[in-house]
Amino acid sequence: MEEMVPERVAAPDASEPLPAGPVADDVSPALRESPSSAPPAGDRSEASGAEERRESAPQVQAPQVDVAPHVAAPEVTRDERPAPSSSAPAHAPAPVVDEEDEGGPARMRAIDLLAPSRTEMIRQRHADEEAAELGPVKHADVIAFANQKGGVAKTTTTLNLAVAFAESGYRVLCVDLDPQGNLTMSQGIDPDKVEKSLYDVLVHDMPLSEIIVKREIDIAVASIDLAGAEIAMSTKIGRERSLEKALREVSADYDFVCIDTPPSLGLLTINALTAANKVIVPVQCEYLSMRGLVQLQNTLRMIQENLNPDVRIEGILPTMLDTRTVHAKEAVEILEENFGDLVFRSRIRKAIKFAEAPVKGSSVLKYDSGSSAANYYRELAKEVLANGSA
Ligand SMILES: Nc1ncnc2c1ncn2[C@@H]1O[C@H](COP(=O)(O)OP(=O)(O)OP(=O)(O)O)[C@@H](O)[C@H]1O
Ligand SMILES: [Mg+2]
Repeated sequence: MEEMVPERVAAPDASEPLPAGPVADDVSPALRESPSSAPPAGDRSEASGAEERRESAPQVQAPQVDVAPHVAAPEVTRDERPAPSSSAPAHAPAPVVDEEDEGGPARMRAIDLLAPSRTEMIRQRHADEEAAELGPVKHADVIAFANQKGGVAKTTTTLNLAVAFAESGYRVLCVDLDPQGNLTMSQGIDPDKVEKSLYDVLVHDMPLSEIIVKREIDIAVASIDLAGAEIAMSTKIGRERSLEKALREVSADYDFVCIDTPPSLGLLTINALTAANKVIVPVQCEYLSMRGLVQLQNTLRMIQENLNPDVRIEGILPTMLDTRTVHAKEAVEILEENFGDLVFRSRIRKAIKFAEAPVKGSSVLKYDSGSSAANYYRELAKEVLANGSA
């Protein structure tokens, strides 16, 4: 019998780490986390010694928990202690020991250790519920203003519609994708003097947020060197998607992104149509201006097939309308016959204020807020919003 004593003591000797073995694997995770199910080494190997230690340190309450490694049971090896888990984070309050459990430090209730993680769980559930109420992160409606014909009021429409959206409380970003930099100028910024522009974004992958300037609306500015961007991008893989990629960074910060395009169907315009989900086509109410629409539609079809199946024409906007002339009236009729409901009901009539406002570096809505010119674009904003934008 005497020979058995050293054997029995030696097996659970706490000074030697126990190999991770089937015993640990067999217990359920809940039990593994609970010290009450894993008696301390002292209980198994040095019952009498442990008794003495408890007497000498009666104030100690949580000897088995990682959060208080300095407390008692110094002989317990890392392997024998309950595995640190989410149920006992470093900042957790010391678990309470039942009065009746004074007989051993291992008799803590599992609930005391689980409480912090339960709190976490409940907090997370509340956060999830709040997120569900708010809905998924909303991304901006991206509208490209395109027509390869020059001087049809693309820039005027981009800026004034954007400002009309902003007046209604929407967060708006304008993107000046035209090397002429007219939109940038219309907000009083000199494209010759900007240091960082869309050129850097498209060619060198600079974050879009670095080139945004705050004016009436936020504006991603153009510089004169944007004219070289098409050539510089021509060897780039994914060159048609450079703008789309850049917009992802800021898309959640805005309700609308309004992209002004140059009077061509080159790579810059293709970037705009690839990044957009809607296209507004300003058309001057003249016969010759309308002929180019077929070409624009063909380009858009090609983009839908190859790059962006979601893009569609939001509407065709008759601009610079002179209601006094028969020709203008006929031009609108031809538009409606050919494009039906695609033609906006809003009309942008001719007004000298549209030429005056950019000189002051402002939109017509700011330049002469009460003017009928300003109201043309407010009406257009209402129509676009009624069509289901933002
Ligand atoms: N409703 C309007 N009435 C009178 N003038 C207008 C109107 N809309 C725009 N304009 C003027 O027409 C000119 C051309 O307009 P805008 O620059 O907006 O056209 P665009 O299509 O952007 O031209 P581009 O193709 O060169 O970029 C500008 O001088 C502008 O002030
Ligand atoms: Mg323009």
